[in-house]
Amino acid sequence: MTVASDAISGSETPNDGWSQSASAWIDGLGSHGDWSRAHVLDRPMLRRVALHPYRHAIDIGCGEGRFCRLLNETGIRTTGIDPTHALIDRARVLDPGGDYRVGRAEALEFGDASFDLAIFYLSLIDIPDLQSAIAEAHRILKPGGSLLIANLQSFNTAGDPAGWVRDAEGVERFYIDHYLDERSQWINWSGIRIRNWHRPLGVYMQTLLQSGFALCGFEEPEPDGGDPVRAARYRRAPGFLIMEWQKISTAGRATSANTAIS
Ligand SMILES: C[S@@+](CC[C@H](N)C(=O)[O-])C[C@H]1O[C@@H](n2cnc3c(N)ncnc32)[C@H](O)[C@@H]1O
Repeated sequence: MTVASDAISGSETPNDGWSQSASAWIDGLGSHGDWSRAHVLDRPMLRRVALHPYRHAIDIGCGEGRFCRLLNETGIRTTGIDPTHALIDRARVLDPGGDYRVGRAEALEFGDASFDLAIFYLSLIDIPDLQSAIAEAHRILKPGGSLLIANLQSFNTAGDPAGWVRDAEGVERFYIDHYLDERSQWINWSGIRIRNWHRPLGVYMQTLLQSGFALCGFEEPEPDGGDPVRAARYRRAPGFLIMEWQKISTAGRATSANTAIS
C-alpha cells in the first residue's frame, strides 16, 4: 500500500477516487469480504448487533452492501446508503429485495428518529465532514438507539507512507508520524486509489461525545485465522477498533463531562 498526504483544505475537489476504484473494490472484497472483514471485524460486529433486538438499521457508507446483506439475514431490515453509484448498483444486483440508496453521510434523506441502529463499517475514514456525519447519525436514530462503528486505528492511519519497513538490523517496523495532524491522504493498493482521512482518536471521541452519544462498548478485536503472517503483523500493529455508542441527548448538547478541557 502506498500513501500520499495532503493537508485538509476547504477547496478540495469532492472526487475521492471511489467511482474509479469501484470495480477493483468489488473484485478485492469477494463474496466473503477481505481478510480484515472475514478474520477481524465481521464476527465481533455481528456479536454486538445480536445483543439488542434491533428492527431497522442503516449502514452509512455501505459500499456494495455486504454488511447490509449480513444484517438482513439476521432479520434486521437494513437500509444501505453510499455516494458511489457503481457500488449501489452492485448492491441492488446482489440483493434485489434490499433497500440501497445513493446518498452522503453528511446529509441523510431520512426523517428524525427513523432507525434504532446506525452503522459506520470502515466508512468514517472516507467521509470528509466528520462533524456533519455524526450529527446526522444522531438525528436519524431513535432516543436510546445505537451507533456501531468499525474504524481504522488512528495510529494506523498515521502510519509511515511506506508501510512496514526494515530497520538497520533488518527487523520489520511500523512507524507512525504527525499523529496529531488531521489530513487527507491518497492510498493505493490492488488497483484501488482512494482518498482517506487521518484523524487522531481524540477527534473521533470528542465529536461523538459532544454530539449527544455515550460510549457503551469498545474493542480492539484480534484476528481469528487466515494468513498467519498477516495475523502476526496485525498483532504488532493492529488495524481496527470497534465502538458502540448510545444516543443519549439532543444533538449539539454536550455535558460538561464530555467537553474538552483547554
Ligand atoms: C472502505 S469502503 C467500506 C464499504 C463497506 N462499509 C464495507 O465495509 O465493505 C468506504 C465507503 O465509504 C463510502 N463513502 C465515501 N464518502 C462517503 C460519504 N461522504 N458518505 C457516506 N459514504 C461515503 C465509499 O463510497 C465507500 O463505499
